[in-house]
Amino acid sequence: MLYTLITGACGGLGGAFVRLLAERGEPLFLTGRSEIKLKERAEELRRQTSSLSVQYFPCDLSDETSRRAFFRKTDAEGIRFSRLIYVAGADIQKPFERYTQEKLTFQTRVNFEGAISFTRAVIKRAPLDGNTELLAIGSVSGIYPMPFFALYSATKRALAQFYAALRVELKGRAKVTCVLPGAIPTRDDVRENIRAQGVWGRLAAISADRVAQKSLEAVQKNRRTPVIGFWNRVMQAGTALVPLSWKMRFIEKRWGKTEKDAFPLEEEG
Ligand SMILES: NC(=O)c1ccc[n+]([C@@H]2O[C@H](COP(=O)([O-])OP(=O)(O)OC[C@H]3O[C@@H](n4cnc5c(N)ncnc54)[C@H](OP(=O)(O)O)[C@@H]3O)[C@@H](O)[C@H]2O)c1
Repeated sequence: MLYTLITGACGGLGGAFVRLLAERGEPLFLTGRSEIKLKERAEELRRQTSSLSVQYFPCDLSDETSRRAFFRKTDAEGIRFSRLIYVAGADIQKPFERYTQEKLTFQTRVNFEGAISFTRAVIKRAPLDGNTELLAIGSVSGIYPMPFFALYSATKRALAQFYAALRVELKGRAKVTCVLPGAIPTRDDVRENIRAQGVWGRLAAISADRVAQKSLEAVQKNRRTPVIGFWNRVMQAGTALVPLSWKMRFIEKRWGKTEKDAFPLEEEG
């Protein structure tokens, strides 16, 4: 049996992918950091659809030992994958000077190193018959450098560039897409951020269910780096000729006013 591997499966957007694919009866392999949350999610899905094949195993994507243990476990059980949906990501937003070393390592690894590491591991365990799908969740925040959201923006840019290049390397063997959504009202702090962006924020925000659906359509069509959402595409096209320095000044004013960090670390000094 071939599974769809979903990282960030217990999060807002990850949960939307899980619901959508479960409705379609597709075999799912869920991962996240909390074994308890994964177990609850898997049991809930099995209660809803007893015929659904759902497996899970925890993994800290920022930790190479944990990533190795994950694939040792799936290999021992003979699990293979036909689709990776790399949803996990940390959207920490604050002045870079206020980062600790631990936090910048964490964010960089979850958003980028974990993604490329899982992508490599899945490629090794997928049929690569042209139907394998590799889908990464980037962000419109990766299109331009974003003061006060600098590390997030840079990691999402790196992810999109990596996936665009990989798509060419795997041509004919796998579909490779990195989608670029705008704001998705998943957590309270994100919803507050959307409110703070005013009318435009509310216009450009798209539900997690819709982003999941559009993202799956995009990878099935083997799109490269599509922007998700009409108003986000309008914004991107409408600002294409605006000088980068102006765009960054606008971002600096807006993003400098708000902060978010939903990823506290125990060992942070
Ligand atoms: N919300 C937005 O406005 C927005 C916009 C554009 C793009 N995105 C992207 O969409 C993705 C999902 O975001 P969301 O809004 O759904 O946020 P979320 O609910 O906070 O989900 C983030 C997920 O990342 C996982 N994660 C974080 N650190 C991890 C680690 N070290 N190891 C394993 N998993 C880890 C979390 O898993 P556990 O906590 O369960 O371990 C959680 O499921 C992210 O990549 C984000 O950058 C979001």
